[in-house]
Amino acid sequence: MNPSLSRFVSTSFRVLLRSPSSCSYYCKFVGIQISPSIGLIQSSRALCQSSRQISTTDTSSNKHVPTAPHFKTSETRKKRQAESEIDAHKQDASSSYGTRFNPYTMAHPIWSENEMDSVEITHRPPDGFVDWLAFIGVKTLRFGFDTLSGFSFGKRNEKKWINRIIFLETVAGVPGMVAAMTRHLHSLRRLKRDYGWIHTLLEEAENERMHLISALMVKKPSWFFRGCVLLTQGIFVNMFFVAYLISPRLCHRFVGYLEEEAVITYTKLLKDIDDGALPLWENMPAPDVAVAYWKLEDDANMRDMFRAIRADEAHHREVNHTLSSLKPDDENPFPPGQ
Ligand SMILES: [Fe+2]
Ligand SMILES: [Fe+2]
Repeated sequence: MNPSLSRFVSTSFRVLLRSPSSCSYYCKFVGIQISPSIGLIQSSRALCQSSRQISTTDTSSNKHVPTAPHFKTSETRKKRQAESEIDAHKQDASSSYGTRFNPYTMAHPIWSENEMDSVEITHRPPDGFVDWLAFIGVKTLRFGFDTLSGFSFGKRNEKKWINRIIFLETVAGVPGMVAAMTRHLHSLRRLKRDYGWIHTLLEEAENERMHLISALMVKKPSWFFRGCVLLTQGIFVNMFFVAYLISPRLCHRFVGYLEEEAVITYTKLLKDIDDGALPLWENMPAPDVAVAYWKLEDDANMRDMFRAIRADEAHHREVNHTLSSLKPDDENPFPPGQ
């Protein structure tokens, strides 16, 4: 056979084998009349139909319902799933609260009674220009917020506290997510590995969001409040993103000092509860979502929830001061969930 004709026939068959649609178009293009019922097309259609049957759409609930098992069903996978503490946490949460609580949370520390009670107010003295800039920035923000929100004046009650907690947690959930996103993009852009920081930063972001979700079980914010959150997020996310591109060290130190203030705030809150200044919360049960997330006792109250949140803040304080002191290419010393 002529070599050119041989190449043409070979190419034609390769195209025909790829898909039935290209087969039909190609045949029209080269002027060949073939019956659509040829075996090749039939078998291709059968393959398409069988793959479609792997999943269907439940029209009643409009949900995607898989009807075939996961492609990986080895014993290793099943064993790993059964032994995973995270999965056990998910199962506990879903069995206790059904659809009311999303069990798909990341790994995070579960504090013992002793750990929650041993949290202390600490301060890392600033060392150098960057540290001082972060420290002065946090102190200035705290003074401004305490003054503008009226927290520094008058008697502190439950309403004042919950408004403060909700607002500050909407801000606290930003740095971890922005830092994780920035490092993720940096890894993609520079074709370099991340050294394990991203998961810790994402865990922090979710943990702060869980503080917020728990507080929202106590009070629903007004529209004015929501507007303030929207405005603050719009400004803070962009500022933090630019700052993280310029100096990750400054940003982690800033968050470290912010978390020092968070520990001070929650310690003051626990003292207010102990002093009887917040009678509504003295015996109020902790929200279900908080009991499930921190694995609190079934009869846990609001004080128990705030003790767990304070322990989280003390953990973020240590994590961010540590990350600030590391070089961006150093290994993250914090394993998942710790
Ligand atoms: Fe928080
Ligand atoms: Fe925090």
